[in-house]
Amino acid sequence: MTHENTANHVPDAQNLQLEHQKCIADLGEWKRTHTCGQLTGEHAGTAVCLMGWVQFRRDHGGLIFIDMRDFGGLTQVVFSPDIAPQVHKSAHILRSEYVLAVRGSVRRRPEGMVNPALPTGEIEVVVHEWKLLNTSKTPPFPIEERCDVGENLRLAWRYLDLRRPWMQANLRLRHKVTQAVRSYLDEGNFVEVETPILTKSTPEGARDFLVPSRLNPGEFYALPQSPQLFKQLLMVAGMDRYFQIVRCFRDEDLRADRQPEFTQVDIEMSFVDEAQVMEMAEGLMARIFKNVMGRQVSLPFSRMTWLEAMDRYGVDKPDTRFGLELVDLTEATRASKFALFANAERVKALKVPGGAPLSRKEIDDLLEFVKNYGAQGLAWIKIKPGEWQSPIVKFLSEAERKHIAEALDTHNDDILFFQAGKTAMVNAALGNLRVHLGEQLELIPENAFNFLWVTDFPLFEFDEAEKRYMACHHPFTSPAPDSLDKVVSDPANAFARAYDIVLNGNEIGGGSIRNHSADAQRRMFAALGFSPESAESRFGFLLRALEQGAPPHGGIALGLDRIVMLLAKASSIRDVIAFPKTQKAACLLTEAPSEVSSAQLCDLGLRLRENAAASAGACGTE
Ligand code: AMO
Repeated sequence: MTHENTANHVPDAQNLQLEHQKCIADLGEWKRTHTCGQLTGEHAGTAVCLMGWVQFRRDHGGLIFIDMRDFGGLTQVVFSPDIAPQVHKSAHILRSEYVLAVRGSVRRRPEGMVNPALPTGEIEVVVHEWKLLNTSKTPPFPIEERCDVGENLRLAWRYLDLRRPWMQANLRLRHKVTQAVRSYLDEGNFVEVETPILTKSTPEGARDFLVPSRLNPGEFYALPQSPQLFKQLLMVAGMDRYFQIVRCFRDEDLRADRQPEFTQVDIEMSFVDEAQVMEMAEGLMARIFKNVMGRQVSLPFSRMTWLEAMDRYGVDKPDTRFGLELVDLTEATRASKFALFANAERVKALKVPGGAPLSRKEIDDLLEFVKNYGAQGLAWIKIKPGEWQSPIVKFLSEAERKHIAEALDTHNDDILFFQAGKTAMVNAALGNLRVHLGEQLELIPENAFNFLWVTDFPLFEFDEAEKRYMACHHPFTSPAPDSLDKVVSDPANAFARAYDIVLNGNEIGGGSIRNHSADAQRRMFAALGFSPESAESRFGFLLRALEQGAPPHGGIALGLDRIVMLLAKASSIRDVIAFPKTQKAACLLTEAPSEVSSAQLCDLGLRLRENAAASAGACGTE
């Protein structure tokens, strides 16, 4: 006889649970009177009915204590053999996560048993009657405030993960944020309009998710990377002020702050300039902070041009909560005997005050870190009394050393890090090293929220892989007035009427003033390498709309997930999304994506290539 089919080998807990299922009762007439987070000493003597889950059970000297949980919190309920012997006896079946309803009376806890850490810690509910509403298998991890389990397990059992108070609080916080957004924008005469999900590709810089059309074999919809073009069309339609809390879809490499489907607070306004859009967005953030966090935000937010951000911080989303600014030494080292410095397009340094005690191993780790940003090395100097310790110091002249000391205002025990090479690499390596060191050395104040506008972005960036210019924000962004002539003649030096909103080093939103004339938009398409025919075939509907009396307009989209993540002090947007995807864009709960039947493919006129997994991404090779 094999083991598997014998009831004897079913684990005890499971057998018991099957047995307990026989005790499950209906709610019947029972009505909940309070949540499990509501009762205090003031309720002593009140008859109550609570419903929720068994968080924890303790048997003590004949009494059974259950910590009962619902969305409101925890209440201790007591089954006493003296007060209700039968009720007490029946409570022995209760296990973790069983669902129950109790009727009883509130009493103050005896002296010494009060739990000040719990809002309901003054009282307990003495049970007179109870019902088992459901049993539960043993959960794969304890449903506790912070539980130390792998994220994949949490995602596979997301509804249990979401039962935890911290996750509940995150979703409720998210709800409060969206309520604050809706009330603020409604008061500002914005109209919430839904836009299509099955649509045509909108270029926001990522790959599209495509949906095959059964009724139009061989043709595809794209899921919107944002509602950008529809919101502009709504301005042409005279809606004047639009918003939408909207799902966007981008097939890109995922990180802690990126999901393939994420939510934007998408906004567009007619007859405005950048200052008006920014003022509206500042008011919106202030409203969110006031309503959700009870915090005052000081307005207006600081501003910095993109050039200044790159110069001082090396990144376009500077975290201004701490110093460690980069210092440009390109000119000072132009004549250096150190060839690496002398020949570099850019030389920059970063001083860590008091950082000299960093060990060789710690410096090696930092070198590994900057390699992620294209750096090949990481030069350093430790400032010691009377000497500079460094493998590179022998290459530096007295004058160079003096200049470096002055430019970086060095003191004993500082450590300086240097990067030399292409400007983009130097900025990326040192800019990200700065943030890394800020975290590692705990230089970032705990409760600070630093907002910053980054303005005057370049209009284009050069894509080395494709050997062509791409729009830095998106192709519908208007050039700055003094860059109009450069759009085609000098794209590398053209700037855009674009702005990003940054909070604590995170890009939480971005927007721009748009091209509202068809001619300006055609010039942009030409600069981006579209022939008039390809511009027409992809964006003809937009160009035609711009020819029909389009008003000047501009807007912004805020990353809702990122804002909530920062407010919740979570380290990933996955912690503030109910059902997120993994780094591999999979839903571990539903097991999406999954294969489909050949009949479904056939309906769509599709057939998979042999070994589809291996050939994906290798297109263009045949
Ligand atoms: P942009 O592409 O800058 O602008 O997006 C706006 C904001 O959306 C958030 N965001 C994301 N959040 C999570 N996961 C992602 N994959 C992701 N991608 C972007 C960021 C970002 O700042 N249509 C324009 C807006 C406009 O011009 O009005 C747009 O989508 O917080």
